[in-house]
Amino acid sequence: MTNIGVTELGYLGIGIRDLDAWRFYASEILGMEWGDSNGELSLRMDYWHHRILIEQSDEDDVLFAGYRVAGPEEFRMMQHHLEECGVPFKVASPAESEKRCVLEFLRLSDPAGLSIEIFHGPLVDRHKPYRPGRGMHGRFVTGSGGLGHIVIRDGGVEETYRFYRQVLGMRGTVEVRFEMGGVRREPIFMHCCERDHTIGFGVGPLPKRIHHLMVEVDNLDDVGLAYDLARRNGVPVLMAPGRHANDSMFSFYMQTPSGWFCEYGYGGAPPNHQSEYNLVGDIWGHEMVATSYTGEVGRETPG
Ligand SMILES: [Fe+2]
Repeated sequence: MTNIGVTELGYLGIGIRDLDAWRFYASEILGMEWGDSNGELSLRMDYWHHRILIEQSDEDDVLFAGYRVAGPEEFRMMQHHLEECGVPFKVASPAESEKRCVLEFLRLSDPAGLSIEIFHGPLVDRHKPYRPGRGMHGRFVTGSGGLGHIVIRDGGVEETYRFYRQVLGMRGTVEVRFEMGGVRREPIFMHCCERDHTIGFGVGPLPKRIHHLMVEVDNLDDVGLAYDLARRNGVPVLMAPGRHANDSMFSFYMQTPSGWFCEYGYGGAPPNHQSEYNLVGDIWGHEMVATSYTGEVGRETPG
């Protein structure tokens, strides 16, 4: 098995319909920094120029996920590897890369049709300290763990596993096994850095390409504050605070203005380098507040 692989989820592109609602949500609930330079909308979470790129779109869904490789040699090796795997890709032009604020990137698709970007050399604005959209007790945990994790719609669990394992070089497997409504679910969580998982999939049918984005903070009180602010401002909560068994994350889940969810967490553990699984999913809490995991009636799948 090859050692070539991505090293972190560096950025996400999202298409959103209601810019005003998102501006309030991202700044005042999540504590992200809203960026607007020459009409290019983005969200910052640290020194990086952006962690989330925003396009106005009726899709209200994730548009692309940007995964990092270390540098130019790894970027060339990845291209060679993609050719060997027979995976079609397109290297972006220098002008496109400059617009994306990376040195180089290429595009391909995952088995569900999600647009994937592999890049190196993000623009890091160290002269511009991170300025949270609202007061924070601490800061976002990014660094070598990337911006967080995403749980995504899969294009068949086995095919999706093969893609993220063999093509992108992530590792992982089933971490929880459960049955609900007579249907057995075995979601897979995969890592590529010190974060327990960078992606999760296999949670059942999803109405959007993304189920949730998890962002982590380094102070427990910021999770409590986000929870208070969500409740105070009428943000729908999907799952009450609790602690996951696989990544030890103390978190809660709330709906974004686009209908998909944000997990806001603290205290995540690094990945297990040898596989293990459990039958419950949580150490405690994470009680489902909405009617179902997808926020839709009749699609009950915890995770
Ligand atoms: Fe999560």
